[in-house]
Amino acid sequence: MCGIIGYIGKHIAKDILLEGLRRMEYRGYDSTGIATWEESRFSLIRSAGPLDALEEKVSREKLFGTAGIGHTRWATHGGVTERNAHPHRSSDGKIILVHNGVVENFAAIREFLCARGYTSSSETDSEVLANLIAYHYAKESHRVQCSRFLESVRRALFHVRGTYGLVVLCADFPTEMVGARSSSPLILGIGKDEYFLASDVAGFVSRTRDVIFLNDNELVHVHGDDFSIISLNREQIKAVRQAVDWDLSTVELNGYKHFMLKEIFDQPNALNNAMRGRFSADGSTAHFGGLQMSPRELRKIDRVIFCGCGTAWCACLEAEYLIERFARIPVEVEYASEFRYRNAPMDRNSLVLVVSQSGETLDTLAAMREAQRKGFRVLAITNGIGSSIAREADGGIYQHAGPEIGVASTKAFTSQLCLAAMLALYLGRLRDLSFEDGVAIAEALRQLPQQVLEVLKLNDHIRRIASRYQHCHDMLFLGRQSMFPIALEGALKLKEVSYIHAEGYASAEMKHGPIALITEECPAFFLACDGITLEKTFSNMHEIRARGAPIIAVVTDDCQIPAALVDDIIAIPRAHPSVQPILAAIPVQLFAYHMGTLRGHNVDKPRNLAKSVTVE
Ligand code: F6R
Repeated sequence: MCGIIGYIGKHIAKDILLEGLRRMEYRGYDSTGIATWEESRFSLIRSAGPLDALEEKVSREKLFGTAGIGHTRWATHGGVTERNAHPHRSSDGKIILVHNGVVENFAAIREFLCARGYTSSSETDSEVLANLIAYHYAKESHRVQCSRFLESVRRALFHVRGTYGLVVLCADFPTEMVGARSSSPLILGIGKDEYFLASDVAGFVSRTRDVIFLNDNELVHVHGDDFSIISLNREQIKAVRQAVDWDLSTVELNGYKHFMLKEIFDQPNALNNAMRGRFSADGSTAHFGGLQMSPRELRKIDRVIFCGCGTAWCACLEAEYLIERFARIPVEVEYASEFRYRNAPMDRNSLVLVVSQSGETLDTLAAMREAQRKGFRVLAITNGIGSSIAREADGGIYQHAGPEIGVASTKAFTSQLCLAAMLALYLGRLRDLSFEDGVAIAEALRQLPQQVLEVLKLNDHIRRIASRYQHCHDMLFLGRQSMFPIALEGALKLKEVSYIHAEGYASAEMKHGPIALITEECPAFFLACDGITLEKTFSNMHEIRARGAPIIAVVTDDCQIPAALVDDIIAIPRAHPSVQPILAAIPVQLFAYHMGTLRGHNVDKPRNLAKSVTVE
């Protein structure tokens, strides 16, 4: 939610900032802006709308400054206007900043500052931060110069309730930069004679992979050729430098038209990465290095509570089917945002598992903290290396799916399903799952990337099908058992990237209400790959057929489906039930992708969405 970047070095800042914003545009794309230090003043350029508009404006200016900040916005407070775009400058002109997060007490701070002569020119909560820092900066005038800027930011943040990732510049110290974080990510990139601060490594990965992930309540001060990190309480922090192992191609399109398509096609690779090194030598179980729980401790667990949001929540629901079936442990699935406030009674032997691609989703992070506050152990499945969730979890499993840039989650989803199947295998083998059944699941997982490649070959077929339905206004996605979460995910994906109204249901539920929607105008998309309930699914298809709606069905290639029952068939390889949902997920992703592009939408940046939702 919003991407921020700061640069100090020896190169022209504007180019570096614009490139960084381009790579972080997935975080928000309502409006953009940069500010650079040009000899004796800040030059501020902002624009409502996408980055192209800002680039056009910047190209008309002569900007040679080597220090600057930039922002790409997902609006929270205040409409999408140039005035509300970041960076924001204090009314005395001393402080300029970019902010990702929400200042909950901004109205009170604004009133306080207004009474002291600081004025606002936008409707944002972020502008009050610039004024608040300027206010403390003015109060700190007695201080030795070198600590005055940093100290004013530190003091200001004491009064802030809410979340922030911040990069701040000060007109009196144009070769310095201060960053701070609380519940919104901020990463320091250390290059050769240059420093970066950004919400995501993607913002500077073309220039350095040497990074420090800041923790909550830490401030970083880049000054001259050095930097220091302190806590809000002014303790010095000894930070750990890490090298990220991304290569640039993972954040570039590499010939694909959209990141969403690139990431759909990257799934065999992402699945291989999720599984690499995680099978036992005898091939009958999985193991994970980072769970921080012994087999003995895991055997004592008598309930697992999964929490996530959106697509990650759909992955949690699939995990319920898999873990209950193969490990025979009761599972509950919660929306992270509901779990946090619901105060659900939980017994001592419950294990909480949160699932989050980014590792920064605030609702999921808050649910995790709430469970930890109550003394529960929380494990995380996340793709966000060094993310807040990864760092605060008591243990967990990294997805290693590589960066996911398309706002609609695809490869992260199937990688989460793969890890859920592996976890079911591992927990099952700690209980009653036999050696033979374990080997069958492990073998099915190993075959999976190859089978995914087979499904991807259906891309053109699925595009042709999509072209026949591109003008519809409503669609139902239906599936039973382990296909039900995929139906939910299919409906979510379609809504997100094509703006067609879609609902996902357990197939049999359809006749308890949603069947009233069925007309010739409302196609049904069936996920009909669950062997046990196939006949029943056929009956559900008949019920829809009788009411004249077109049917698209994803079936396994050995399925004897009566031809008259469906209009369009997508046949995917038959696989073990532990991995069949993963194969079924790919046609719904491709279908949504083509529906979105055929309707002329930018599927990588769907309307109103942002990749990482760091507000509640
Ligand atoms: C949908 C989508 C969102 C995310 C949700 C959680 O395509 O991407 O629904 O799944 O915002 O995000 P993470 O997984 O980063 O916690």
